[in-house]
Amino acid sequence: MDENIEKLVTAAQNSLADSTFIKLVLSNYKGREHGLQKIIARVVETKHGPRLMFQSRFDTRDIVKNFAFEDGPAEIGQRLGSGFRNAHLFTAGGDLQLTIGKRNSRLVMGKASARKPASTSHDRQKKTLIDPNAFYLKALGIANDKGEIKPSQQDKWRQINKFVEILAGLIDASPIKEKQELRIVDMGSGKGYLTFAAYDHLANMRAAAAKRTVQMTGIEQRPELVDLCNEIAAAVGFEGLKFMQGQIADLDAAGIDILIALHACDTATDDALYKGITANASIIVAAPCCHKQVRRQAEAARNTRGHSKTRHNARTHRRDDNGRHPCAAARTRGLFHKGFRICADRTHAEKQYDNRRKAHNRKEF
Ligand SMILES: C[S@@+](CC[C@H](N)C(=O)[O-])C[C@H]1O[C@@H](n2cnc3c(N)ncnc32)[C@H](O)[C@@H]1O
Repeated sequence: MDENIEKLVTAAQNSLADSTFIKLVLSNYKGREHGLQKIIARVVETKHGPRLMFQSRFDTRDIVKNFAFEDGPAEIGQRLGSGFRNAHLFTAGGDLQLTIGKRNSRLVMGKASARKPASTSHDRQKKTLIDPNAFYLKALGIANDKGEIKPSQQDKWRQINKFVEILAGLIDASPIKEKQELRIVDMGSGKGYLTFAAYDHLANMRAAAAKRTVQMTGIEQRPELVDLCNEIAAAVGFEGLKFMQGQIADLDAAGIDILIALHACDTATDDALYKGITANASIIVAAPCCHKQVRRQAEAARNTRGHSKTRHNARTHRRDDNGRHPCAAARTRGLFHKGFRICADRTHAEKQYDNRRKAHNRKEF
């Protein structure tokens, strides 16, 4: 092995041993794995103890694999010998930067450029229900290595916190809080932000107090997202969490206790509600997405009647007297008629509608 690769591997090994390891980035890949761009290795807390997690970034997907501390450094050496030309090791004691050229390599040592994250485990004292330092948030790209939520992900962060808060409150107020095992399905789980956060909160942070286990499944049509989420779930040891590729409409939902769906596109929200109703789920929490089908139908009807484009656009989203979108009104009515108690949180669009109406009324007085 090249002497400088050996030095970097030893430095990684030592920093893992004395807990000063922050992260390792392998880049400038010239090897044979198609589409591979970089590997980021971080320490992650799992049920089986700390592990070194390698997240391999390809053009269109990520692959995640865990290594025991004894095996991780050898994997770093092997990766550097098979195509990566650059390595940047961040430790609390200082940084090492390795560049591998055609004939020789160069190793540069510098001051520590990154701060060590506060903790790799769950901090139960956080104000939010979700721990921003949870590893899956970093692996999914919501948080940076310091456990700070990225500015571009603040909306998603607020959404999933609010969703988990609502879900936890509904469980606490329901007879199913006494159940030994809760079966939850997240329909249209996407990259799994909500699925991971809800599972972590219910299964890890509260399950011991509630004396229950949680089985959660994310249903998603895109296989690359399903694979990524399953790898991260396995890597962090979330044993009751799995992701399945498929269409919501094809799912056998029998026996589920709770159905959740956050922004399942278009009519996928209706498919999800239908599954929740027919499975007799105790709790359904859904925040819908776009209403493409209704919009298309409304547009077609108005075009047939010869309305101008501007006018029909204004009417397509006409809301009821409560400012509720017609789809939301129809869905809540449908659930109500099936015997569900409705707790409707006003959507952002509905709140905007209220504000516009208030502003309009103020002008009239
Ligand atoms: C807007 S994303 C929301 C993802 C996630 N729930 C969140 O809020 O972060 C909607 C996801 O639902 C998936 N999806 C849409 N229709 C679906 C269907 N009929 N069956 C399964 N997945 C579906 C899409 O592929 C997409 O990943």
